[in-house]
Amino acid sequence: MAVREILLYPKDRTALRAKSHPIHNFNRQTKHLIEDLKETMLAHYDGIGLAAPQIGVHSRVVIVCLGARNEWDHEAGTPTALVDPEIIESDDERKDFDGCLSFPGLYGETIRPHYLRVTGIAEDGKPFDRILAGFDAVLVHHEIDHLDGILFIDRIESLDDLYRVYMDGNGKPVRVPISEIVPTIRLTDMAE
Ligand code: NI
Repeated sequence: MAVREILLYPKDRTALRAKSHPIHNFNRQTKHLIEDLKETMLAHYDGIGLAAPQIGVHSRVVIVCLGARNEWDHEAGTPTALVDPEIIESDDERKDFDGCLSFPGLYGETIRPHYLRVTGIAEDGKPFDRILAGFDAVLVHHEIDHLDGILFIDRIESLDDLYRVYMDGNGKPVRVPISEIVPTIRLTDMAE
């Protein structure tokens, strides 16, 4: 098992945009992939979710720390894997905080469902069918998006909703809108 390199946008755009293939047969290789994803995510202080394509593996496997209140919540639960996750129902779409390990320091407000029913295979190899609510639903939706090559910048409606976050002298996060950093930027520049 190993900490793997996380692919970054836009450098690894092609890999991050590619669609991932179903696992179908949960085997030792799947377990190794799950362990690599967990180790890689745990190596990143601000990570609460990671999808296999972000380490260059185009298989439908994601890791999520459920129970987080938001991206800054490091009290979230231990990471758990969702294999071949499929959204059966989604509801309660609202704007919420979003960020991604493939976009270091970039955050935004995206519209995502806050209610999801998801089926798939759990990390013990057994099928699951579970309801996710609140930020758990947002997080799982973000990670499943990765499996289809969809990135959080695709769900940003306005540049005003996209910002960099810096830590001030007291370690408090400060938001600076991206339009203040790069005044000429357009949304299409981001997502292309
Ligand atoms: Ni992400």
